[in-house]
Amino acid sequence: MRSVEPIRWTEDGVVLLDQRRLPSEVVHLTYTDYRELAAAIKDMVIRGAPAIGVAAAMGIALGVSRSRAATLDELRAEFKTICDTFACTRPTAVDLFWAIQRFQRKFDALAQNAAQNNLEPLQLALVDEAQQVHRERVAADEAIGKFGAALLPAAGRVMTQCNAGALATAGIGTALGVIRIAVETGHKLEVLVPETRPYLQGARLTAWELHQDKIPLTLITDNMVGHFLKTAAVGAIVVGADRIAANGDTANKIGTYPMAVLAREHKVPFFVAAPISTLDLSIPSGDQIPIEQRPSAEVTHVQGVRVAPDVKAANPAFDVTPSRLIAAIITERGVARAPYQDSLQRLAK
Ligand code: MRU
Repeated sequence: MRSVEPIRWTEDGVVLLDQRRLPSEVVHLTYTDYRELAAAIKDMVIRGAPAIGVAAAMGIALGVSRSRAATLDELRAEFKTICDTFACTRPTAVDLFWAIQRFQRKFDALAQNAAQNNLEPLQLALVDEAQQVHRERVAADEAIGKFGAALLPAAGRVMTQCNAGALATAGIGTALGVIRIAVETGHKLEVLVPETRPYLQGARLTAWELHQDKIPLTLITDNMVGHFLKTAAVGAIVVGADRIAANGDTANKIGTYPMAVLAREHKVPFFVAAPISTLDLSIPSGDQIPIEQRPSAEVTHVQGVRVAPDVKAANPAFDVTPSRLIAAIITERGVARAPYQDSLQRLAK
């Protein structure tokens, strides 16, 4: 059931499925310059925390493998510029910084045995590393899917938020991976998909992915979430994450927090599905998670069409759900439950 491939390493460059144009058009863009790939992350050609991590990994490998540096010292200086460029793309998705730090460690280790004038082995090793990151994402999603499917009802409705699918991870998805494996293993589910204003990842991407896989869904607007949690016998909610603090507080797409509050009111279990790379155990709570502020035009306009007068508009891209509202955090290493301070530490080791 792997119908969607948002990113691929090829001899010609890094190929991205342009998510800005879905579902109307399926267009692939090939990137040969790391700066353009970094701009593509910022512009949402590829998005979703784990997929951003894969894109940064491939982008750093692209920059290093196409560098004109003649010596190791020159390459080291350029490598720093490349990493800094990716670090400035999206501030909340911690998988981005996880990938950058992984490549910094790898570069340092390889540089210890590299010759000043023979850079090819190091360049090839970083390309391998990027492909390894991609393979690990695929495997993590499968494992998350298996752990999470066991938590979903055998039949009935489930709800998600934004797009935490194949498009967002480069595997089968985290939240949608859980739903995919549940359906594959016989659960009879219907997915309630909120549109996810302002960028419409639910309407454009999650609805598209589920429809492609023939998983039953109903698209709803964001302001219908409370109504359906009250009246539609929703058995569970499963969402992805952009950054999870040491105490389990979770940043995810704006609108996730009110959904979790409503879930508590209506006694619907609220699950977060995310790989270990989305944990940020360096920060004690969600208060320290940086929230990306995106352009106000995403609020005043829908798909380029103005829907509001020329007024001030707020656009925080994420909100933080306190861990007390989260029934479990599903990772590729197992399911964490409260107290998250302990359970997440154990899984991360
Ligand atoms: O702004 P986006 O589209 O990158 O936000 C994506 C989300 O909030 C996802 O839910 C999150 O990254 C998890 S993706 C598996």
